[in-house]
Amino acid sequence: MELGELRRIDVCGIMGYVGPRQAAPILLEGLRRLEYRGYDSAGVAVADSNGVAVVKTEGKLSRLISMVDVDALPGQSGIGHTRWATHGRPTDTNAHPHTDPSGKFVVVHNGIIENFQTLKDELGARGAVFRSETDTEILAHLIAEEYQGDLVEAVRKSVARATGAYALVAMTAHQPDTIVAVRMISPLVVGFGEGETFLASGIPALLEHTRKVLVMGDGEIAIITRDGAIVTKLDGSPIERAPMQVDWTVEQAERGGYPHFMLKEISEQPTVLLDTLAGRLQDSGVAIDGVSLSPEFVAGLERIWVTGCGTAFHAGLVAKEVFEAVLRLPTEAAYAHELRYRDPLIHPGSLTLAISQSGETADTIAAARLARQRGSRLLAMTNVVGSALEWEADDRLHLRAGLEIAVASTKAYTAMLAGTYLLALQIAQIRGDTDPQKLHLLIDELAMLPSKAREALELVGSSLDPIVERLVASNDIYFIGRGLDYAVAMEGALKLKEISYLHAEAMPAGELKHGTLALVTEGTPVVVVNTQRHSYDKTISALQEVKARGAYVIGVGYEDDSYMEKVSDALIRVPRTIDLMSPVPAIVPLQLLAYRVAEALGLDIDQPRNLAKSVTVE
Ligand code: AGP
Repeated sequence: MELGELRRIDVCGIMGYVGPRQAAPILLEGLRRLEYRGYDSAGVAVADSNGVAVVKTEGKLSRLISMVDVDALPGQSGIGHTRWATHGRPTDTNAHPHTDPSGKFVVVHNGIIENFQTLKDELGARGAVFRSETDTEILAHLIAEEYQGDLVEAVRKSVARATGAYALVAMTAHQPDTIVAVRMISPLVVGFGEGETFLASGIPALLEHTRKVLVMGDGEIAIITRDGAIVTKLDGSPIERAPMQVDWTVEQAERGGYPHFMLKEISEQPTVLLDTLAGRLQDSGVAIDGVSLSPEFVAGLERIWVTGCGTAFHAGLVAKEVFEAVLRLPTEAAYAHELRYRDPLIHPGSLTLAISQSGETADTIAAARLARQRGSRLLAMTNVVGSALEWEADDRLHLRAGLEIAVASTKAYTAMLAGTYLLALQIAQIRGDTDPQKLHLLIDELAMLPSKAREALELVGSSLDPIVERLVASNDIYFIGRGLDYAVAMEGALKLKEISYLHAEAMPAGELKHGTLALVTEGTPVVVVNTQRHSYDKTISALQEVKARGAYVIGVGYEDDSYMEKVSDALIRVPRTIDLMSPVPAIVPLQLLAYRVAEALGLDIDQPRNLAKSVTVE
C-alpha cells in the first residue's frame, strides 16, 4: 500500500431518516448539504416491507442524484452516505452503503475499522465473500452474523469486535422502520421532527427539517424510529443529556448569493467578530461564558500550552505571542499531531488551550486528552457546540463564527484570534497585576476589531489585481514576517496552498538567508508581512535581501505606511491597529488573495482536492 493512500484522510457525510415521508429525496438533500465533508462517491439505501434497495456510484453526488429514480424507491426509512476514501479506491463497488451477501443488512460508516484485516480474515475463514476493498463491508457481514432477531443487539456485539474511530449506521430488511447508529469519535447528530426522526454527521443536513438536535457522544448508541430516538451508552446505561435547540438557519447553510462559501465566510468576519465578542467585553472587563478559571488556579498558573492543526495551529502561534506579551507566561504552541507523540513536559498548574473549528480533529482531541491526563487544565476553543473536543475539556470557549462550510477556514480563524485576546485579558484581569490603563487600551482595541476587519475588506478594492496576475503565473511563492507577522505569513501561505495548489511557503523573515534565499530569483513572488513596530526595520532588511535577488515583493503593511509602499512592488494595505491585534486585519486581504488566485485558476474553491473540512482520523 502506498504511504500517500495510507495517510489519506477519511471524513464522510452520513444521513438517515425514518418517518411518514419518502426517504430518498430527504436523504439526497441531506447529503447535498454534507457534500463538503467528502465527495468521491455516494449512495443511498431505502428500506420498506419488500426489503432494502441500494443505489450507489463513484463520483460526485450529482451523479447519484441523476441515477436515483425516487419513484422506484418508495420506502419511508433509509440511510445515505457521501464518501472520502481510505480503504479502497473511489469506485462504484467501494461506495457506501454496503450490504451483507443476503442484502438484508446494510451499513454506512465514517472513519476507520483498524482491525478490519483480522476481522476480514476471520469472516473469510468462515466462507464470507467480499465484494469491495472497504473496511465498512466487514461490518455488514458481522452484523448479519450476530443477528438473532434484534438489530440493536447485533450492532452492539459487532462493534464490540471492531476497533477504531468511526460512526456506524445500520438497517435491516427485518426491521425496516429502525435505524441503529453508533458513535466512536466520528460525529453523529440526531434531529427530532414531528412524527419523524433524522440522523446526520453534521447539523447543516438537519436544519431545514428541525432545530431540535442531540449531538451523540463517544461510545453511544442510538435507536431511531419515527417516534424519536433512544440514545444510551453502548452498554445500555442512560445518558444525562437532553436535545438542544440550534440557532443556525438554513440560509446560513446556503451561499447567500455569493459565488462560493469561502467568499461569503470571508465577508462575514466583521459580524462574526462582533458575535464572538458580544456579551464578553463588558464595562467591568472581560467575562467569557464557559470559562471559569479560579483566582487560585490563575495565581498558580506557570505555563500555557496551545495546540491544534492547520489553521487552528496558526491561531495558536498568535496565542503564544499574545499570552507571552500580555501575561508574561511561558507559552508553547505545538502541532497536535506532534504533541500527542512527544513526551511533553505538561504538568498540573498549566493550562492547555486546544483550538479546533470543528472540534472533531482526531489529533487535536488526542493531544488535548494527553494534556489532561498529565494534569493540565484543558480549555477547548471550538466553533461547534457539543463537539468531541468539548467533551474532553474543563472549560469551553465557543467561537460564534456560525457554520463554516468552505474547507479553507477563514472566519473561524479570526474568531479564534478574538477568542485568544479575550482569554488573555480575562486571565490578566483575574491576576490583577496588569496596569489597568494597558488593560483598558487592549479592551478598547479588541472592541474595535470588528470594524478593523470591515475596513480591511473595504481597503482591498482592486489592489489585488496585479498580484493575482503574477501569482497565477508562478509556481513558488514565499511568505515572510517576524513574530505575529510570521504567524500571519503561515496562515496566508496555507490559504493559498490549499485552494490554488501553488507551492506557497512561509518562514520567519530571519530564516531566509539560512537557505531559502537560494530559491529567490528574478520575479519570484515574496509576500512580506510587516506590521510590527519592534521588528519593522529588520523585516525591511529581509525585504531588501529578496529584492536584491530580483524578487517581486508583495508588501502587507498599514495603509499609511508610505515606506512599505515605496519598497514594495505591490502593497496590500491593512487598517492600522495596535501591533498585538494586527493579525486580524492583516489576514483578511491574504484570504481574499488566495480566493482570487484560485478563482482565476478556475479551481473548486469550496472543495479543494485531497482535503476535507474536519480530519476525524489521524
Ligand atoms: C484550514 O483551512 C484547513 N481546513 C485545515 O488546516 C484545518 O484548519 C485543520 O484541519 C484543523 O481543523 P479544525 O480547526 O476543525 O480542528
